[in-house]
This record gives sequence, structure tokens and C-alpha cells, in this order.
Amino acid sequence: MALRGGSDAVAVAETTTPREIFRSDYRPLPYRVGSVSMNFDIRDGKTTVESELTIVPGVGEGDLVLDGEADALTLLSISLDGKTMIEGVDYFVEGDALTIPSRVLLGNENDDFASRKLRTMVEIVPETNTQLSGLYKSGKMYCTQCEAMGFRRITYYPDRPDNMAVFERVRIEADADLYPVLLGNGNKVECGKVEGDEGRHYATWSDPYPKPSYLFCIVAGNLGSVSSTYTTRPSGREVRLEVYSEPENVSKLGHALASLRKSMMWDEDEFGLEYDLDVYNIVAVSDFNMGAMENKGLNVFNTALTLADPRSATDSDYERIESVVGHEYFHNWTGNRVTCRDWFQLTLKEGLTVYRDQEFSGDMMNSHAVKRIEDVNALRARQFAEDAGPMSHPIRPESYISMDNFYTSTVYSKGAEVIRMYRTLLGKDGFRRGMDLYFERHDGSAVTCDDFLSAMADANRADLTQFGLWYSTSGTPTVKYFTKYDESAKTFHLTLSQESNSDKPLHIPVAVGLLDKVSGREVVPTKVLELKEKEQTFDFPGLDGEVLPSILRGFSAPVKLVGSSADEEKDWAFLAAYDSDGYNRWESGQKLYTSLIFQTMRGVQSESNTMEHVYEAFQRTLALDTDDYSIQAYGLIMPSESSMAEELDVVDPVALHKARGDVKKSIARKFHSEIRAKYDELTSAMKSTGGEIKLDATSIGRRRLRNVLLDYLCSLKETPEEREAASELAMNQFQSSFGMTDRYAALSCLVSMGGEESVVARRDAALQKFYNDAEGDALVIDKWFSGKEAVLNVFCPDAYFDHLTYFFALRYLNHLEMCTAVQAMSDLPDVLDKVKALVEHPEFTLTNPNRCRSLISVFSGNAAHFHADGGEGYKFLGEIIAKSDKLNPQLSSRMGGALIRWKRYSEERGASMKAELQKLADMKPISNDLFEVVSRGLK
Ligand code: ARG
Ligand code: ZN
Repeated sequence: MALRGGSDAVAVAETTTPREIFRSDYRPLPYRVGSVSMNFDIRDGKTTVESELTIVPGVGEGDLVLDGEADALTLLSISLDGKTMIEGVDYFVEGDALTIPSRVLLGNENDDFASRKLRTMVEIVPETNTQLSGLYKSGKMYCTQCEAMGFRRITYYPDRPDNMAVFERVRIEADADLYPVLLGNGNKVECGKVEGDEGRHYATWSDPYPKPSYLFCIVAGNLGSVSSTYTTRPSGREVRLEVYSEPENVSKLGHALASLRKSMMWDEDEFGLEYDLDVYNIVAVSDFNMGAMENKGLNVFNTALTLADPRSATDSDYERIESVVGHEYFHNWTGNRVTCRDWFQLTLKEGLTVYRDQEFSGDMMNSHAVKRIEDVNALRARQFAEDAGPMSHPIRPESYISMDNFYTSTVYSKGAEVIRMYRTLLGKDGFRRGMDLYFERHDGSAVTCDDFLSAMADANRADLTQFGLWYSTSGTPTVKYFTKYDESAKTFHLTLSQESNSDKPLHIPVAVGLLDKVSGREVVPTKVLELKEKEQTFDFPGLDGEVLPSILRGFSAPVKLVGSSADEEKDWAFLAAYDSDGYNRWESGQKLYTSLIFQTMRGVQSESNTMEHVYEAFQRTLALDTDDYSIQAYGLIMPSESSMAEELDVVDPVALHKARGDVKKSIARKFHSEIRAKYDELTSAMKSTGGEIKLDATSIGRRRLRNVLLDYLCSLKETPEEREAASELAMNQFQSSFGMTDRYAALSCLVSMGGEESVVARRDAALQKFYNDAEGDALVIDKWFSGKEAVLNVFCPDAYFDHLTYFFALRYLNHLEMCTAVQAMSDLPDVLDKVKALVEHPEFTLTNPNRCRSLISVFSGNAAHFHADGGEGYKFLGEIIAKSDKLNPQLSSRMGGALIRWKRYSEERGASMKAELQKLADMKPISNDLFEVVSRGLK
């Protein structure tokens, strides 16, 4: 528990060092809360919270310890079974804990007891809560965020996930005019006017399912909504679905509601899991630290992941909303009904739920290959980076100072990969058997990753002991392969070996298929090899001739694959053309691009003629006559700078950016007329549909492909003629498109254009028009500030991403190539000055996480400029972080992540980054969150 911390100013005694919590220290609760009732009296500037906890004996010896953040709570009264308690005698408050000795609970007779009633009353001030944890105000509404440890900022409570309790009655009282909508978890059991107090009203909610405090939620506001009903198919329960927002945004809620319905059907079909309450509410709030939150029956969502209409949301926004609505819905079983015993087990619910949302999205998009490419891209660009830096940790961490720092792409995305490996090893049916047993055994309880593994193993009579090492091994393992064809025995030998941070070898599923080396025909279809030893050789007998292996199909394990063939590039070119596995076909093309970009960066040319291979692959992909436009688009996009950076020991972001740009230009120049012809062909195909924005896979794919082509075309801006042509083309698209996807893609190209007056005039006119047309729409203005659409994964080898950007990642990746985007993302030399000016813009604020991310995090992800010589980018970021830490430590520590991987840059860059980290570390006070990140970074 935090010794530091605090509500608004994060005040600390200078001598206290933040405490590190260890997984091995877990002890069950000697006393726990069995049930609870609460009463919220919300008044401007002062909210009182009464709690009545039924305390029951738990396991083992000890006192009752209630968490409560000293800086957030003012204790007004406390009583046990109706008797007022005396501080220093009946209870003790120290730091963020209120302790009631067991002798007090046991009473005179020192007897066992069935239960005691503990009543507390505290006062809190949501209006000044800028941390956005606990009860706070977003715009004109009150809302809560309790995961991971926000409930202790609302009341005294054993604020840990293994205390599952029934929240019997939660009464919320507030002004009826200002806050007509009052929501809580579970079902509404009562509401009405407050007698004797005109103008106030109340609602009482009751949640029959035991839950940990992190799933608690209330909302009070003047909200509009859309609603419908859904009848569950297994048992015909009628559920009222309702999505809320501020009244002016109600027209943008339809997509979220539709996504909820799809999620409910999908979980019934795929896992036989049904919803369990009479209502399912979702509320969109604009000030939110993360993406969304799965509170029981009352999800809270970041507006960026809820609101959508074609004028303001891109295709990727739509896709992302659907996947996050799915994610939070799926938590109802994987997270809420079965939850985590302690926070070290976070991946138990998050890895599993991400896996579930990935599969859901793949089904909804009708293409698991496209989805897989996007997910692996995100994993490699962000998780691999995280795992190679000072924040590296296993998917089940061993210790933390601030749990909020561990909502990471490792816990989420790598955690999902581990679940996917169970699925690969056990098969579809075996995985389902394991899931069924998991729910049968653990419904209603708080469990561990080991319990999940046991359910999978027992349901399949499999020994997964070795597989369990994935939970304790940090870092990205490497799998090397070596091949030999024995002509006389007509046998192909594939030797695999592994290296990782684990002393013992990991259990790694490696999916392999074999292609005929001449015809490209698949001669051995996909087979899952189980690599369990340090080195193992697998034989494929009965072949007719030489073969080429396609290894790690579908990215069957989160590892780096390293080959040993002398002719690697020829093999990649061959696989890029013939592999029957869509994922690996794409992957081979990516390897070719990477190789060429690295050669360009180093100023060397290999003998294998990489350039020719790349041209050939690009041309072949461009010429494909397919309506699988998304796959085609992804085949044309070069790997992100951040994922390529992971393959380098020392990164020069400026040189890497330049090399990638040069390769892009040479491709654009060589195939200019083909690219332009395809672009025009797609444009007329779109015109013929009458400009309507359809959201099916084909329409989305077509826009995606066209925007990738636009970006290639706009990369040519060497001569005045080229600049004129490029800016005219982009401006045309900007003006003629109705939907945000195409407008934004065009703007992203324009914003990096400079030179002649006419070119600059177009750019500025487009920016101005984009801003004006936003008419104050916050989410569009976020886009204006950043050009976020394009960025983070492209440029951010080391920004330590937050949970929200995990979801954002999907959308950036869809636009990998549009890497020169609006303002913060611009590729013009004065970008830092622009960003500094934007900080002074009246619409910029550090208190709104979305706005802050859209400018600051996006800039720090703009590697070539953030890392520009002189270290001014680092200094700028350091100053912003220092300010933000006083307001919102969760946000400041996330931004701090952009400075911690200084070791992988040149000495000079590294030294200036480190200097900024040191300044932050010396800052007093500093939040626990930021302290943890900067001190890891300095180690
Ligand atoms: N459980 C939420 C989700 O995955 C995320 C909560 C993140 N909380 C935090 N403090 N970082 O949907
Ligand atoms: Zn989640």
C-alpha cells in the first residue's frame, strides 16, 4: 500500500521511501467483508459516504486492516455494532490504513463471532480529484474509477480483489435537476424524491453477485442515452441495454450499443456464457485515465472509445470501439464472476479477455489473418520494446510499487499470446473444455494464474507444468532454426533451439508447414511442433524433393525467430510469393523491407539484391486482383520504426526514420504510375457507391489501401513540381471526402508538407478547416492536436505505453504508413516549436488525459523529432511530466516511460535523457507512480 500518494497535490513526507509489494507476500485476510451497504450524499464541494460493512472471520490470525487514503478521506465517525469507537483504543489510523485489533472484534469473551457491523462515515471532495481515481468529476458528471486501488479513496475498506462481497444496497442522493440520472452496479431497486428536501432525489442499487471493490461504480449526471433490449438465448433472460453520454453526444452512441449486442451473442455462441443481470449500462466520460472499465453491470468508457459517427470517427475508431465494448463485456465472466486473488494475477483476467476480444474482432471483421497481422504488429512494436527495457517484467510480475504501472502491454498483449498458446496446444475443443472447467471450479471466487493452468491441464489430462514457466519468464525468447535436407532418405530435418531468461527451457508451440522448393506448393500442411528442450530436431520423412519451411505460422509463439540460411532473402521472397499461410506471407515481406531499410541506413548493399526482391514483392502485391484490400494494404506497408528498432542494439531514430523514408520514396518513384493508377481505380470505385460510408470489411479495406497509396504518392516531394502535385492530390482527397478516415489520412499527408507558398497555403487551409469543422468536438480536436491516428507505433520504440494506448495501438497500426500526421506528428523541422505553441493553445490542458496524450505522448512518439540533436525534446517532456505529476500520477508516469530507454541511444542522447530522468527523480514531492518508473529507468 502506498505510504505516499494523496489526492491532488501528491504530498509526501520527504523521508518515506515508497514501499515495494511482493507477490510472495500474499496472505489471506484474517477478517473480511461479507456484505456491504453504502449511502452517497453528493453535494457540491463535499460528498459524504456512509458504509456499513458486515465483518466476518476469514483465514488465519491477525487484525482487520482497512485501506483508506489519508489524503482523500476525512473520517467523520466510526462505530462497531452501534457503539462509537475510540481512536487509539478501538482503532488506529496510520498512513493509509485503519486497523481494528482482533481483540476489539472478538470482544470480552474472546469468542468466535459470526459477524460484526462496522459503520463509517467519511467526507470526500470529488471536485478537486484530478487523479481521476476514486469518485471524481468529469465535466458536469460524477463518476468513479476503482481499479486498481481507487475504492480506498472513497471509503475505508479491505481494498483488495480477494475480498468479494455482496453490495446489498448502494444509495445515491444528489440534486435532481443537475443529476437526473443516478446509476450503480447491479439492478435498481428503489428511487424517488427525498422527503423534506425539495430538489433532491435518490436511487438505490443492489448487486446480487459478490464482487471485489475494484468493480464498484456509481455515476450521477445529466445524461442522454440510447437503449434496447436483448434476450439471452440459453435462458431467455431479458436484459435492458443502455449507453449514456452527455446529451449532445447521444447521436454518436449507436455503434457502441450495436457492438454490445454482438458481444453478447458471440460469448453465448463461442463459450456458452450468458449475461446475468437485468440491465447492462455503459457510460461515456471524457476525463478517463484508461480505455474503459468493466464495473459490474455499469461499464465506464473513455469517450474516445464510445462515440462514433462517420464525420468524426475513422474506420479504426469504429473497429476499436467494437473490440473494447467486447473486451469489457467479456470481463463479466473472465474478470468479474471469476476474478483475481491479488494484483499480481492481473493477466489472469486481462490476458484472457484480450485473447477473447481478439477472437471476437477477427470474427466480426471476417478475417483472422488481418486481425492477426494487426495484433502481432502491436505486440512487436510495444511489448517487445517494453520487455527489452527497464520496465521488463513477466506477465505475472513479482513486485510493484504502484500497481497502476503494471497495466502494461506485457500483462495484456503478451498475456493474450500465452492464452493463445494454450489454444494452439490443446486445440479448439480442448481449450473450450478447459474454459468450462475453469468456470465450473471457480465461479464466484478470486483465483490465480495457477488455477487457470490447472483447469486447462485437468480438463485435457495434459501436463502443463513446463508451460507454466511462461508466467514467470520476462523478456522475449529467441528461437533459432537450422535445416537440412537428406536427399537419399527423402527426409527434411528441422532443428529448433531456444534461448530465454528462464533457466529451464520453455514449452513453445512452433507451427510449421513445408513448401515445395520449386513449385511453391504446400507439401506438408501446418503442424504444431512442441519445442520443449533447449534444442530439438524434428524429421519430416517421405518427401519428393527439396522443401522450404514456413516456420512460426500465424505467429504461434511470442518469440523472435532467427534463421541461419545463407540465402535468407531469397527464401523470404519465395515465401512472400507462395506461402499458403497468410500471416507468414506478410511476415516474409516485412523481413525483406526491414533488410533493405537497414542496408540503406548503413549505406551498404548486400549481394543478394534486396532491392530487387523488395520491388518484386511490392509490385506483385500491388498488382493482386483481390478484394481482400486490407491484406493487400498491409503487404504494402513497411514495418514500423519501433518494431525495426527492436532488432538494433543501438538505435539512431533520426537515421532509421530517414532510411525508411528513403526506401519509401524509391518505391514510390519506381512504381509511381502503377500506384497512381490503383489509387484512381479505387477512387472511382468509391465514387460509384455514392459516397456512403459503409463499414463492411471490403469498404474499410478499400479506404485503407487507398490511403496507403496516397501516403506513398505524397512521400515524393523533392522538387517544386512534386510538392505541388502531392499537396494537390492530398487536398483533393481532403476536400472531396465526407468520412473522417479519408479526411484524416489526407490531412496527415498535408501536415508534413512545406516549401512553396501554394503548398503551405493548402496545408494551413486544411488544418484550419479541420479545426473549424470540428465545431468544438473534443475527439476531433484531439485528432487535430496530434495526428495520433498515425503514430505511436510507428515512432515509439520506447514510450512506455499505457492501457489506453493498448487500445489505441490497434488504430495506429491500421495507419502505420501515414507516419507524418497532424501537428505533433508533423515531419517538418519546427515540430517542437509547434508543439510548444500548442501547449499554450486555449484548448490544451494537462488535466484531460486524452488531450494530453494527443499532443505530448504523440510528440514523444515522433522519434525523429523527439530525439533530435540537442535534447530539447527531452527537456520539454521532462518539464511537462513534472507539472503533470502534481495533478495525475497515473498519467505522468506513463509519459515518463518515453525517457527510460536511454541506454539504447547514442551516448549523447542517452546522457540527456538520463539527465531529465534524474531531474524527475530528484523532484520533491514525487508520486509513487512516477518514482517507480524513473527509478527503474535510472537503474
Ligand atoms: N480493467 C480495465 C480493462 O482492461 C483497465 C483498468 C486499468 N486501470 C488502471 N488503473 N490502469 O478494461
Ligand atoms: Zn480488461
